[in-house]
Parts: sequence; structure tokens; C-alpha cells
Amino acid sequence: MRSAVILSRAVENPRTVTLTLDSSMDACPGQFAMLWLPGLDEKPFSIAGARPLSFTICRVGAFSEALHGLSVGDRLWYRGPFGRGFPLEGGRVLLVGGGYGAAPLHFLARELLAAPAGPGTGRAVQRRVEVAIGARTEADLLFPGRFRKLGVALHLATEDGSAGGAPGLVTDRVGPLLSGGGFDHLYACGPEAMLDAAAALAGKAGVAADLSYEAYMRCGIGICGSCEHSTRLVCLDGPVFRA
Ligand SMILES: Cc1cc2nc3c(=O)[nH]c(=O)nc-3n(C[C@H](O)[C@H](O)[C@H](O)COP(=O)(O)OP(=O)(O)OC[C@H]3O[C@@H](n4cnc5c(N)ncnc54)[C@H](O)[C@@H]3O)c2cc1C
Ligand code: FES
Repeated sequence: MRSAVILSRAVENPRTVTLTLDSSMDACPGQFAMLWLPGLDEKPFSIAGARPLSFTICRVGAFSEALHGLSVGDRLWYRGPFGRGFPLEGGRVLLVGGGYGAAPLHFLARELLAAPAGPGTGRAVQRRVEVAIGARTEADLLFPGRFRKLGVALHLATEDGSAGGAPGLVTDRVGPLLSGGGFDHLYACGPEAMLDAAAALAGKAGVAADLSYEAYMRCGIGICGSCEHSTRLVCLDGPVFRA
């Protein structure tokens, strides 16, 4: 277990903050760390950035509420990185995020853009990265500004239509994007129903897909069995699984 001091606390949207620590980690996008607050609980959170280390936290219950209550200068305990992250594959990739699932996808987008595609082909090709994110309303969308700063094509979906376009789910945007052809890899992180829909659309389009799943976790390292899902341990074999 390590601890670090909170260097900054950025409000991303009404329910989400990003805490940046005075610490770094050798981690890849899709991996997670267990965050601990003494006397309260310990829960898994995706690594939103490794250098410096940051976490993006959506307020839903007691533990995430307590993390939201932390201020610059407070101390946070953590262990990790754990799990299998996203492989850096594909030349024209679509990243699909729902809710705070966009947090590891921003880290992934940065790594994909920094690592040219085409290893083994003898020629490095700049990847083309497009991102589709969804939320209930425009105010709930996570990181639209940060994705725009990366220069990626951004597709927004809101259930009430407040971000423009037809109201709907992010997977409503994914179908037409994939059927237009041109993508060779899909990455997704978000609620399980969204992942299942994205996997089905990728399968139909013949596109490889890597999906980050959630599960209730206690140990985070493959000992307790609490994260078992269809005979696999999400903390050890995942959280990223090939569809
Ligand atoms: C691999 C992994 C990575 C994760 N990464 C992140 C991350 O980057 N950021 C983050 O904020 N959380 C992340 N989580 C979820 C996090 O671990 C906690 O489960 C979450 O913060 C809720 O804990 P809590 O104690 O605040 O609420 P709980 O007491 O567990 O939940 C309170 C209520 O909210 C509901 N609820 C729980 N989660 C959600 C949700 N996502 N949306 C809507 N309702 C919900 C519960 O069903 C319950 O009714 C991740 C989980 C896993 C397994
Ligand atoms: S959380 Fe204990 S085995 Fe996965």
C-alpha cells in the first residue's frame, strides 16, 4: 500500500471530479488501482493518468462521496496497478465510453496517438482515433473538452438530445459509424449493457473489440473470488476482455 498527496482536484461535471496525486505509476490504460480511505473502505478505480497518477471519480454512494470530499493536500492510499489493460492495436480505432468509462478511454486515446500503428509492417503509420461518448445530458458528458484538445473526431450522444443530434444512447451512434466501414478496432468502457451492445455491433461489422468490465472487488489480485464472472476473475483476467 502506498499513499500520496492530492495535488489538484478538477470538477469535470456535476457528479465527477478528477484527483491528481503527487505520484506516478507504471501502468497502461484499462488497468486499475484499489483506493483506500482508512476506516471507510477500499474500492477499484480505473487509472485515468499514470504520470502523474490520476483518478476520475463519479459520485454514486458512500465511498465515492468520501473521495469527492477530499481536498488538495489531503492524503489518499492506493495499491496497484492491477489487471489487464487495453492492447494498443488497430490503425483506425473507435473508442466508446458511457458515464465515467470515458476516463480510461482518454488515457487510452493519448497512448494510441503516441504509439504509431503498424509494428511489424516495417512502416509506422499515424493512427486515426475517433471517440463516441454518451451520457444522460450534455452536462453529464465526461471529458468532451479534453478529447477535443487531442484533435480526435468526437461523436456525442445524450439521452435527452441536449448535446445536439437525435436523443439516444451512445451505441445508437456506434452502429452507423461501424457500418460505414473503415474502423478496424473498437475499445469500450462503460455500463455492461452498453458493452454488450457495442460487442454485438463490432461482431456484426467484423471489427475486433476490447471491452472493460466492472465487477464487485475485494482483493483486486485474484485471491478472494468476489469478482468471478463466467469462470473468469475480472481483477486478474480483465477488466479488459476481447469480445
Ligand atoms: C475495474 C473497475 C474500475 C472502476 N473505475 C471507476 C472509475 O474510474 N471511476 C468511478 O467513479 N468508479 C469506478 N469504479 C466503480 C467504483 O469501484 C465503485 O463501485 C463506485 O465508486 C461506487 O462505490 P460507492 O461506495 O460510492 O457506491 P455504492 O454504495 O457501491 O453504490 C451506491 C448506489 O449506487 C449504485 N451504483 C454503483 N455504481 C454505479 C454507477 N456506476 N452508476 C450508477 N449507479 C451506481 C449502486 O447500485 C448503489 O445503489 C470501477 C469499478 C471497477 C470494478
Ligand atoms: S477481487 Fe478478489 S479475486 Fe478478484
